[in-house]
Amino acid sequence: MTGAARPRVTLKLATSLDGRIALANGASQWITGPESRAEVHKMRAAHQAILTGIGTVLADDPRMTARPEGGCERQPDVLVMDSQGRTPSGAALFAETGRNIVLVPHRDLARAMAGYESVMIEAGAQIAASAIAAGLVDRIEWFRAPMLLGGDGLSVIAALGLETLDAAPIFTRTGVRERGADLQESYERIR
Ligand SMILES: NC(=O)c1ccc[n+]([C@@H]2O[C@H](COP(=O)([O-])OP(=O)(O)OC[C@H]3O[C@@H](n4cnc5c(N)ncnc54)[C@H](OP(=O)(O)O)[C@@H]3O)[C@@H](O)[C@H]2O)c1
Repeated sequence: MTGAARPRVTLKLATSLDGRIALANGASQWITGPESRAEVHKMRAAHQAILTGIGTVLADDPRMTARPEGGCERQPDVLVMDSQGRTPSGAALFAETGRNIVLVPHRDLARAMAGYESVMIEAGAQIAASAIAAGLVDRIEWFRAPMLLGGDGLSVIAALGLETLDAAPIFTRTGVRERGADLQESYERIR
């Protein structure tokens, strides 16, 4: 770990067309297709660390490894925001050796990411909202599948508590690419 205290932070989101990540009953995996997932592996490999939340670990038991085509020189570290120490000792995260898994025992995202130059957030709606509200997200990579989950589905960003539109975080779109049946939209934060 080297570099500036404030890393460049990418928030990766994978949703339905209407910005949902799960059904009301929690069913959520494989919303986006194989081409999107292949791109996510490349993105993981290009970041020094992946930050996730205990909600995601408990719901999905992800490995959070970078498995891009052609292999990966160095696996990114994994930071798990877990203030209550609920990460199971048998979690799939621990199966991959040769990388640093940090169970973060507080809720301060900036402190958790300090010391890294680049961090990719792959987490649920709560961590995504906290990171945006704290002004920590520089870039969003949004993978959108051509599927509708409806208003009873779980929104990709939890409550931001905005009271005026002037306070809304604003991004500018920097790219749109087809990933199989999905779209990948890239955004940079401007406010
Ligand atoms: N489609 C996607 O891109 C994507 C990606 C990942 C996950 N998911 C889905 O998201 C769902 C889980 O979402 P989630 O919102 O429950 O989980 P999450 O955002 O991954 O984790 C939330 C938990 O993190 C802890 N935490 C620590 N610091 C925090 C902070 N600063 N702000 C917010 N939370 C903090 C809290 O637990 P403590 O208070 O115990 O510390 C909180 O309950 C699953 O269904 C999963 O499949 C979707």
